[in-house]
Amino acid sequence: MATMTSLIGLINKIQRACTVLGDHGGEGMSLWEALPSVAVVGGQSSGKSSVLESVVGRDFLPRGSGIVTRRPLVLQLHQTEGGTDYAEFLHAPRKKFTDFVVNLTLIDLPGLTKVAVEGQPESIVEDIENMVRSYVEKPSCIILAISPANQDIATSDAIKLAREVDPSGERTFGVLTKLDLMDKGTNALEVLEGRSYRLQHPWVGIVNRSQADINKNVDMIAARRKEREYFETSPEYGHLASKMGSEYLAKLLSQHLERVIRQRIPSIIALINKNIDEINAELDRIGRPIGVDSGAQLYTILEMCRAFERVFKEHLD
Ligand code: GDP
Ligand code: MG
Ligand code: NA
Repeated sequence: MATMTSLIGLINKIQRACTVLGDHGGEGMSLWEALPSVAVVGGQSSGKSSVLESVVGRDFLPRGSGIVTRRPLVLQLHQTEGGTDYAEFLHAPRKKFTDFVVNLTLIDLPGLTKVAVEGQPESIVEDIENMVRSYVEKPSCIILAISPANQDIATSDAIKLAREVDPSGERTFGVLTKLDLMDKGTNALEVLEGRSYRLQHPWVGIVNRSQADINKNVDMIAARRKEREYFETSPEYGHLASKMGSEYLAKLLSQHLERVIRQRIPSIIALINKNIDEINAELDRIGRPIGVDSGAQLYTILEMCRAFERVFKEHLD
């Protein structure tokens, strides 16, 4: 299996190849858009921002009981050649967040609501749902469907919407947060063991930082350690400990991303070859000139296409 780092390198190369192909032919852009993104969906305060952060392993999102994400926060994580990683919000392009390890588009979606609050138009509930749906209905969108364990799963808007846009469940990961906040004497084994709400991918239980932890500035490393300890010492979930928590969810996600990205490689190679053919035809037509003109530029693109083709073919086996 490819490591997360080699996977990110591959995404980088695909993005660069798509830019080259997009500059030349135009079709590269649609391939780029077909690259996977990850979106978190769920009710208000279900733990969406917390889950997105703990999957990445860094603090970077507005989070908290009173904090509501009013519009989608689109975050692009990059890994640059020199190894300096940074993340960039599309809504705040100059603000860079350093020290990340994945290259991916992550989307923190506004929380789904059931009723309009005082002063909001009646249509707000539906408007938010439609906006969230417009992101998660894209076949390239991987859905983290967040449901808090201290609420009835049968009423989970996240699961309802995920089932609607992804009926086969191939791109939905069910995430159960707030296991630590369940009523004493109850547990979530029915869900976590896939008996009551079976999904294609296994459910992952999560214990994020509580509001008190956030207030005390408990950092990501400490939060993950606490989460691991929670599962390892839990009388109910101890037997599932190796398949629970943020780190396991991150592992499941990267494995899934790797599969999805590998599936894209043949069509990328086909597009590259189509470009190579077109460029050769164009060079034949203009008589293969040498010098600093459009001909020379075409040679450069041709060389890049061939290089990309070699790289992607290596990733096929
Ligand atoms: P969002 O509104 O869905 O993005 O949710 P946030 O990630 O902002 O979390 C909302 C509130 O719930 C915050 O106060 C978090 O500290 C708290 N919270 C989220 N997940 C958990 C969890 O697993 N356990 C506990 N105890 N609190 C959590
Ligand atoms: Mg949030
Ligand atoms: Na919140």
